[in-house]
Amino acid sequence: MLWPLTAQRNPDGQLVIGGIALTALADHFGTPLYVFDETTVRHQARRFRRAFETAYPRSRVVYAGKAYLSPAIAALLLEEGVGLDVVSGGELYAGLQAGIPASAMTFHGNNKSEQELREAIDAGIGLIAVDNEREIDLLSALLAGRRATVRVLLRLNPGVEAHTHVKIRTGVLDSKFGLPIQTGVAETAVAQILATPGLDLVGYHAHIGSQLFEVAAYEETIRVVLDFAASMWHTHGVVPHVLSPGGGFGIAYEEGGEEAPIEEWAASMAAAVRSGCEERGLSLPELVVEPGRSIIGAAGVALYRVGAVKDIPGVRRYVSVDGGMADNIRPTLYGARYAATIANRPGEGPEAIVTVAGKFCESGDLLLSDASLPPLDTADLLALPACGAYTLSMASNYNLAPRPAAVLVNNGRARLIRRRERYEDVLAMDILPGQDADTLVADATEIAALAHFDAT
Ligand code: LLP
Repeated sequence: MLWPLTAQRNPDGQLVIGGIALTALADHFGTPLYVFDETTVRHQARRFRRAFETAYPRSRVVYAGKAYLSPAIAALLLEEGVGLDVVSGGELYAGLQAGIPASAMTFHGNNKSEQELREAIDAGIGLIAVDNEREIDLLSALLAGRRATVRVLLRLNPGVEAHTHVKIRTGVLDSKFGLPIQTGVAETAVAQILATPGLDLVGYHAHIGSQLFEVAAYEETIRVVLDFAASMWHTHGVVPHVLSPGGGFGIAYEEGGEEAPIEEWAASMAAAVRSGCEERGLSLPELVVEPGRSIIGAAGVALYRVGAVKDIPGVRRYVSVDGGMADNIRPTLYGARYAATIANRPGEGPEAIVTVAGKFCESGDLLLSDASLPPLDTADLLALPACGAYTLSMASNYNLAPRPAAVLVNNGRARLIRRRERYEDVLAMDILPGQDADTLVADATEIAALAHFDAT
């Protein structure tokens, strides 16, 4: 699936999603605009749940909010029985604001702060995926004198190489995530957790990367993790109740692009867990998967308006749009390739090779390099599919650009789920000249006296 399930052309040749022409949405909400199709979000959530429940009844799906944490969408996912994986105090807060029970959340991250851990414990977090020894120390201090018990998974670095972009690979030994099994550090951490009152080690987690297309890497990860689990059971008596192989299901970004077959992978992962547990005499754990991109990616379409068109004869034609790397950093950061179509008219005609550039002051701000597109004119609307994941969630205010609005469409209705930022929003955190009397700090003594600023 490249486009949302409801995408079609109306009799005027305009692209319609969720029963609404993108032209109408652009006129009403402006551009750049991120359009999310409710049908597709719910469909993917149901697909994941059904696939895993069929293959492995004791399974749970949690959405990796880093892909795009809109409280409105998180709430929809909860209705579909999907929990939430958060990686920061901010995401935890957003999940709680969305009405997600903390018990349905898993807290990830390789450098959780004391404050974030405290917030998670106070909220009653369902699971913390412990990443390192310092985190165990922090949890130990936070739990001292409390009666709370926190359920934790240990994040393992399984030493498995997944074939994906080097920047989104996490399972190799040389990674900042998790504790390596092969160096013995993971076992030390198990002992440390067991010796910490208030921590309940319920199982293990390993996320090997994102945008993956080979289930064999998961099967190997499951084997490696179960080997470790069996060894910890024998030496420390730890029964693994939960096993989480992370997220990472790849999606299509271009026409005919490959996508991970969710149902097949669910069956393969389930088989690997079953046979792996049987071979090692372990009882079957709960299986927790954490898809992000594969739930929200195809549901989101980015909509831009074409501005300047520049021909450099014999070299290149640049078509500039009103967004770019500030709302979608992926082409610049990973060399990610996208598709595009004209949304306001049929957009037929002989195709030519053009480069679709963003509007930011950076030569690398190119959304589509060497794309084959029909002729584009100023004021045309360009729609890019598969833009739901890791776009708005990684957006910046580079060049002090207000970040785009997001709408959720369904059955001919559009709901604004994030309003467009205004110039005032962009400057909201700046202390303007003349307003800085309270923030001037002359020396260290004054800094101490000004400590109350932290709390305000
Ligand atoms: N679980 C953990 C522990 C993760 O670190 C991640 C993603 C996921 C689940 C979800 O993975 P997904 O199903 O979305 O592949 N910004 C990059 C992707 C970074 C992925 C970070 N971790 C990109 O745009 O490709």
